Formats: sequence, structure tokens, C-alpha cells
Amino acid sequence: MERIYIKDLKEHSGKEVSISGWVDIRRDQGKLIFFDFRDITGKVQGVILPNAKDAHTVGSTLRPEWVVQVKGKVNPRPERNIQKDKMNGDIELEILEIKVLNEATTPPFDLKEDGKEINEEVRLKHRYQDLRRPRLQKNILNRHKVLLHVRNAFSKNGFAEIETPLLSATTPEGSRDFIVPSRLEKGNFYSLPQSPQQYKQLLMASGFEKYFQFARCMRDEDTRGDRQPEFTQLDMEMSFVEQKDVMAMNEKVILDLIKTLYPEKEIQQTPIPVMTHKEAMAKYGVDKPDIRKNKDNPNELAFLWVVDFPFFEKDEETKGWTFSHNPFSGPKPEFMSDLMNQKNIEGILTTQYDLVLNGSEIGGGSIRNHNPEALKTVFKIMGYDDERIERNFGHMLHALGSGTPPHGGMAWGFDRLMMILENEPNIREVIAFAKTGEGRDPMMGAPGKVQDKQLKELGIKIVEGK
Ligand code: AMO
Repeated sequence: MERIYIKDLKEHSGKEVSISGWVDIRRDQGKLIFFDFRDITGKVQGVILPNAKDAHTVGSTLRPEWVVQVKGKVNPRPERNIQKDKMNGDIELEILEIKVLNEATTPPFDLKEDGKEINEEVRLKHRYQDLRRPRLQKNILNRHKVLLHVRNAFSKNGFAEIETPLLSATTPEGSRDFIVPSRLEKGNFYSLPQSPQQYKQLLMASGFEKYFQFARCMRDEDTRGDRQPEFTQLDMEMSFVEQKDVMAMNEKVILDLIKTLYPEKEIQQTPIPVMTHKEAMAKYGVDKPDIRKNKDNPNELAFLWVVDFPFFEKDEETKGWTFSHNPFSGPKPEFMSDLMNQKNIEGILTTQYDLVLNGSEIGGGSIRNHNPEALKTVFKIMGYDDERIERNFGHMLHALGSGTPPHGGMAWGFDRLMMILENEPNIREVIAFAKTGEGRDPMMGAPGKVQDKQLKELGIKIVEGK
């Protein structure tokens, strides 16, 4: 018999059907055994009547989380038993036959509650079960819907999704790289990208003009509620544009996405207001102010663009200059001559724009330096000598000199956006397989030891006790 999804059962009222799924709840009332069954589409209540002898025998052995195939008749519920607000609240499955497809161990925690009270290490160790809870099913499936919407929106606007490598060389985004040893070139290492920044600019050099990508980024930094060592960006870049064009493009996609998929949300102000970094610091003391008028309302969304960041800041360790956001950003046009003359360094403002939502930085980007001499000057201000500039960024300088159009782009922190849209307290609740606060995956046991043979092949020796 063809499998019917639980959400479609109503269409089969009065008929015999077959469903497949999990035992959600079992309530044994002696002669009658009640079950809730669930599949990816929803839940339905089933009942074994006393005359269904074989079903009764199997049914009395079933436990929550067992996987079953159930044949039964879809009956309308008597008026007094109808539960209006519940899916399938007006029908019941009269169970005629049950086939156990797989038994299940007792879950390590309650899967019915929202799970926020349970120790995180335990939840992540048994993530495949943790993900069965309705809240996480909703988060992960909504994430898919948002991803699809954004992907289609950029495609419709002429952007091509192009994948870029994970095994690469360092791209500075202000964090530490994760590195991967090379077997074929012992002693050399790949870096996992902190972002696809250089590749997307190189795609502009290649003439693709409009690029986007759902890109995995790796940053070896301390994990927090809104940070994971591995996270997802919606990354985009476009050619022949100015700051206002990139901001407008992203604003259009993000506002439309919320109106379409989260109509219950109230966006405080559109077009999104713009504030300078100086104003934000003076008024709120932070560069990502939460400007919500009503912070108690979970559906309130207050977007804000923050612009005019200082290009350079003092590096605490080296006492020299470092970039405040992104070394590839261009200065605001009126500061180009200061940059080229290495004058007024603390006063140079960048074309950087950050998108803030409810006090969280959910994205950022800039117009890039497409003039190779200007980019070289940025590295010189940061104290890099010619040899280091050529070694680390020679390819970028050559690409910019090879006929690269003016270009700029942006990256959204996709996990952070989903966290806010789903009213979650941290990004782990919107990532299927997240890491703990210590950056571990307790389910897979990562990071973990490797075999001595693997280390030997890589020419690596572990120094104990370090
Ligand atoms: P940036 O470093 O600002 O810019 O990153 C863009 C956005 O990514 C999110 N984000 C993170 N999310 C989760 N965990 C992390 N560890 C983490 N780090 C950053 C933030 C942030 O706003 N290449 C530039 C973008 C560009 O200029 O186009 C970049 O990566 O929401």
C-alpha cells in the first residue's frame, strides 16, 4: 500500500491507508491503546480497538521513538473529541496492522519539551535525537526556506552562485586560521577560509560581475552565543557599483524575505535607517546599537546600517596600525589622497557598512580598493614590507592590475539572521550540527587524535605536554 504523509490523512477520510513514522506518545488504557504517530509532516492520533487482536499484541510492545509502518482506517472523530487547533484534531486512525521497522533505545532526554534546560554537551552528543524536537525541526526547515528564498532572489537579480575552495591560503578577517597540513608538500599547510573575500574579488577580476554563495567560513576564535568556529555566510559581490547600490540590493532582498516568510514580524523602519559609527558610539557607546522601541515584543525587528568606520586602528600587541574591518576595503573617496600619502591615518574613513539587527551585527561589507597601488599602501601602513606583500597578496595586486572593475559586496551572518528570525537565544539552535562552547563536536568526537601513520605521512610530531 502506498505511504500517505500524515498531513494528508484528512483527504483519505473513511479509507484504509498506510503511514510510516515514529511512535511519539503511547497511552495504554487496557482495552484501548492510544498512540500519537509522527512523520516529517506532522502528527496523528491512532487507536487500537480491542477487536484488532494482532495489532493489540504488537501495539502493547511499542515504545516512544520506535519506527513503525501502520495500516489503519481514517475515521472522523465524534464532535465532542474534536481538537480544533491541532493538526488532524478532527480525525483518528483506527489501527488495523502495525509493522515494526526498527526498535529504539530510550532517548537520553525528553524530546517533547523545548530542550533549553538540558546540558548542551549531552544535547549535542545525541544531536540526531535532539533534532527530533519540534522546535529544532521548525528551525532547520525554516532555515531551508530562507536559504531557498535568498538563493532565488539573488538569482533573479542576475547573480550567479559560484563555489570557492575550502583548502586555500590565509585570508585575513581579523581571526585565527584553522590550518590543514599537506601530505604532498610536507611542512606546508593550507588555511581554511575565514571568508571567501579574496576569491569573490578575484571572480570580479574574472568578469562575472554578480556573484553570491552560501559559504562556509572557519575562524579559530572563542565560541560565544552568536559565534561558531564554523558558520555560514550569504556572501555576495558585484561590479561597477557604489556603496549605495550594494546596500540597496541587500536591503531589498532581506526586507522582501521577511515580508514573504515572516509576515508576523514588524519592521520598525524602512528604508533601513543609516547611522555613522561616530554617532553610534556617542549615542549608544557601541557600534551595533539595538534601536528597538519595544524590546519585549519578539516580533519587533529594528534594522540599522552603520557606516563611516575608521579604516585603521592601533594593534594592541604590535602598537602598529591594523585594519578595523577588512584590508581590502577602499577608503571613502574623499580620503583616497590621505591614504596614498599615508597622512591622517587615524582620520581615514572606510566605505565599510555593517548591517545591525536588534543589536546584533548580522552582516557587513564594503567597496573595495580596485587600484593595486592603493591596496599596497594599506599593507604598507600596516607595516608589511614589499617581500611580505608580494608573498601574501601578490596575486590580488596582479589581479587588480589585470583589468578589474570597481566592485564591492557584503556578507550576511546567515546563522545570526536565522537566530533572530526564530527568536532563539544562540546560533546553535539554528545549526543542525553545531559545536559546543569549547568548539567540540561531542557526537563525532572532534577534535580527536589521528593515527601515528597519518602523522608520519604528514611529517608531524606531537610535542606532549604543550
Ligand atoms: P565579517 O567578518 O564582518 O565580514 O563577517 C560577516 C558576518 O558574518 C557573521 N560572523 C559570524 N557568525 C557566526 N560565527 C562567527 N564566528 C562569525 N564571524 C562573523 C557576522 C558578520 O557580520 N569578507 C567580509 C564580508 C565582506 O566585506 O563582503 C566578512 O567576512 O554576522
